[in-house]
Amino acid sequence: MNQDQLKQMVGEAARDEVLKLPAGQILGVGTGSTANCFIDALAAYKDHFSGTVSSSNATTERLLKHGFKVLDPNDVLSLPAYVDGADEIDPAGHMIKGGGGALTREKIIASMAKQFICICDSSKQVSVLGNFALPVEIIPLAQGVVTRELEKMGGKVTLRAAKSTRADLQQTNSEPFVTDNGAWILDVAGLKISDPIKMESHINQIAGVITVGLFAKEKANILLVSNASGVQRLTF
Ligand code: 5RP
Repeated sequence: MNQDQLKQMVGEAARDEVLKLPAGQILGVGTGSTANCFIDALAAYKDHFSGTVSSSNATTERLLKHGFKVLDPNDVLSLPAYVDGADEIDPAGHMIKGGGGALTREKIIASMAKQFICICDSSKQVSVLGNFALPVEIIPLAQGVVTRELEKMGGKVTLRAAKSTRADLQQTNSEPFVTDNGAWILDVAGLKISDPIKMESHINQIAGVITVGLFAKEKANILLVSNASGVQRLTF
């Protein structure tokens, strides 16, 4: 079974999980290839929900294409569940997220939801977070100062690049990747994150940081994880 099939399988399991919620509520929807499988699997049942809140422009586009109603988070008072993927998840449900660059909106929607339902294949399960470079969304003018602070913590910091082809120069330039919020992302390799709550709070204190892709306070409540023998459901 390949990774796409594992993603599809867990997307379908997440669809079955959210259909257990009473009808007529609003659902939070994440970003990434696994979240896309979930959206596609849920499309035929979209009327079960009165609307959705979306964590990125890409997810909004996909939801609208399927005919889901997408609401402004400011108009939403109660969100029973948020479904999203992860780049890494530890045995306590703490996650690294932001590989797709949507970490800030993902964390906002996760903070609104009663339950975070994480969906992934088993390659994302780790004993200690940090093998995947930690994404940190920053205000562009703070790149230098935030980089130095993250280096003091032992991180190897790279500004995330967006590949862009400059036809006029006849060459490919690597310009910074720009998030949906008009910000930049630093990817921090080499951190062993044994205390995710402490590290999340420490990085949050650095001036110029918008969001760190450590989801420790907003950790998963339910994990649906797929491997070749099926989907396992864990709770934290
Ligand atoms: C996007 C995310 C994604 O949830 C994470 O990168 C996992 O993506 P995928 O399901 O494509 O592996 O945090 O910002």
